[in-house]
Amino acid sequence: MMTQHTKEEAILQVSNVALTYDRPILRDINFCIRNIVRPGFSQGQVVTLIGRSGIGKTQLFKILSGLQQPTSGQVTIHDNQPVKAGDMGVIFQNYYLFEWRTVHQSLLLAAKKNKALAGKEKQTIDEYAEQFHLTEHLGLYPNQLSGGQRQRVSIMQQLLKGSNFILLDEPFSGLDVCMLDKAVELLLQVSLSDDLKTLIIVSHDIETSVAISDTVFILGTEPGMAGATIKKEIDLIDRDLAWQKGIKQEKRFLETIEEIKGYL
Ligand SMILES: Nc1ncnc2c1ncn2[C@@H]1O[C@H](COP(=O)(O)OP(=O)(O)OP(=O)(O)O)[C@@H](O)[C@H]1O
Ligand SMILES: [Mg+2]
Repeated sequence: MMTQHTKEEAILQVSNVALTYDRPILRDINFCIRNIVRPGFSQGQVVTLIGRSGIGKTQLFKILSGLQQPTSGQVTIHDNQPVKAGDMGVIFQNYYLFEWRTVHQSLLLAAKKNKALAGKEKQTIDEYAEQFHLTEHLGLYPNQLSGGQRQRVSIMQQLLKGSNFILLDEPFSGLDVCMLDKAVELLLQVSLSDDLKTLIIVSHDIETSVAISDTVFILGTEPGMAGATIKKEIDLIDRDLAWQKGIKQEKRFLETIEEIKGYL
């Protein structure tokens, strides 16, 4: 039986986005992310963008985050405002951190950007650090951290800034099995923290990203057309594949994975 929910207002709308360099990279990109409301739950959105290497995922990622202007078309968030740089928390693949600042200094800087935290920045950092198993690492510099710790600091930094949108480019690459489970748990925890929280994940790891998503968009090319577009949207809630632990072992999950691979 399908989990009870409603899809309400649009929280991110991509309209006719195209990107051309010396040749078309992206064309006719249209999609919408709606606020999913589940009675009795605070549940955000988790959206995955899948596509072959070199297809244009990172370019679309930059356009969605407002860090790059498309050649035409637009991306709008709340109240039809065009997205601008800084509106979204962006987590790049390499977990860029300020190498010359301690973890705590970086986190404090992020927290100070969030007006909602005024006066309780340090307390909030301590709470998050506990949750993210970073309490003992607050005084360290980034080069004294492991890859997984860097990733958690990076996610925490974006959370403290308070943005409802968090974009992650290849968040699962380079993690061992144990860290992978931790990263997944952490992302789910983030998506459950507020019903407007929206995670947009760009990933090669189809199984892991689909297992935590409610919607999948497949970016690919079509015969006779230059540039990539959204070839398919898969609503995982409709298929009863969203919000369920242990879904990776289910036959219908594996069938959906095979179907996605067929579009790549
Ligand atoms: N500044 C640029 N000028 C011209 N072409 C570019 C530029 N930046 C990226 N491209 C091209 O855009 C295409 C899409 O690149 P993008 O990095 O978005 O791929 P991707 O889907 O993220 O790949 P991967 O999975 O390997 O990260 C590539 O063919 C790349 O050569
Ligand atoms: Mg990329």
